[in-house]
Amino acid sequence: MAERILTGIKPTGQLTLGNYIGVLKNLPKMMDRGECFIFIADLHALTLPIDPEVLRQNSVDIASFYLAAGLDPKRVALFLQSEVSAHSELNAIMQNYLYMGELSRMTQFKEKSAKMKESGIGLGLFAYPVLMASDIVLYDANIVPVGEDQIQHVELTRDLVNRFNQRYGNVLQMPKAEMRKIGARIMSLSDPTKKMSKSDPKGDIFLKDDMATVRKKVMSAVTDSGSEVKYDEEKKPGISNLLTIYACLKDITIAEAEKHFVDYRYGDFKKEVAQAVVDELEPFQKRYQEIVDSKSYLEVLKEGARKASEVANKTLLRVKKAVGLLISK
Ligand code: TYM
Repeated sequence: MAERILTGIKPTGQLTLGNYIGVLKNLPKMMDRGECFIFIADLHALTLPIDPEVLRQNSVDIASFYLAAGLDPKRVALFLQSEVSAHSELNAIMQNYLYMGELSRMTQFKEKSAKMKESGIGLGLFAYPVLMASDIVLYDANIVPVGEDQIQHVELTRDLVNRFNQRYGNVLQMPKAEMRKIGARIMSLSDPTKKMSKSDPKGDIFLKDDMATVRKKVMSAVTDSGSEVKYDEEKKPGISNLLTIYACLKDITIAEAEKHFVDYRYGDFKKEVAQAVVDELEPFQKRYQEIVDSKSYLEVLKEGARKASEVANKTLLRVKKAVGLLISK
């Protein structure tokens, strides 16, 4: 079977350099490997309180970022999760095949709910991985490009597929997460022992930051004692993170990046990393702005939902038949 590739980004908060390096930058290469289904996980964004206008704007941003990164809408289905109703329908079926115990062990659920009162935790936050598993199996996806923090959810999807197929025969395709060898976990610039995340304005580089801010953030990144630019995640997490960012943006290995910086001191090293980020983000932002201004994403999303629905509805029908739902038409 040709490869089927699926991934999504949730429109909460501002997209970061972590999202960019972890998945966005590499997505256009996926177009040569098989059929791509790339979406905006807007239903997932509702699992934590979000202002309606912010959600809409974030969705426009992600659609435009996908296109600015180089996804060709003629070759991929680019769509909003909420515009392909099969996601919600399959979710209603699949929620019966994942269990409370396994959902409560999910790291993201534990982290996100830890800050909340139990009475305020929505069911959707708890059931998040059910919808995510539905997203994946709907397209018979065998490859799911994600950053490291999503691996656990893809593993749970694999458990679901095993369980479901054991019960009903070979109905669902087994997916596999695919991470970048380096850059699957970009760390915060202010605390390089923590992941760069959409909700950490100090340690994050946002894809919409202006270039002066980008430079300032890289220059004030926490570094480590010593003066050598060497990769050592344990002893030099800050330097290792900056080396990773540089290597990913320049498409070179860590060893090559280390070699390049062998005679550098931290200050000049940071300056050059900042320049690499600017060189990447400046043209990217220009393309993004053109897409936002032209509103060309609207037509793309409409056509994407049509293409995605065709495939998704077939899987949904297959699943409905398998579990014993009567089909009248
Ligand atoms: P989200 O929106 O949090 O993140 C989008 C993608 O970016 C990756 N990522 C990172 N990669 C490297 N370094 C980082 N610091 C970093 N931070 C985030 C994430 O791993 C992710 O791949 N649940 C998903 C969205 C989703 C999805 C799906 C993904 C919904 N359904 C089905 C794949 C398949 C999420 O919230 O990603």
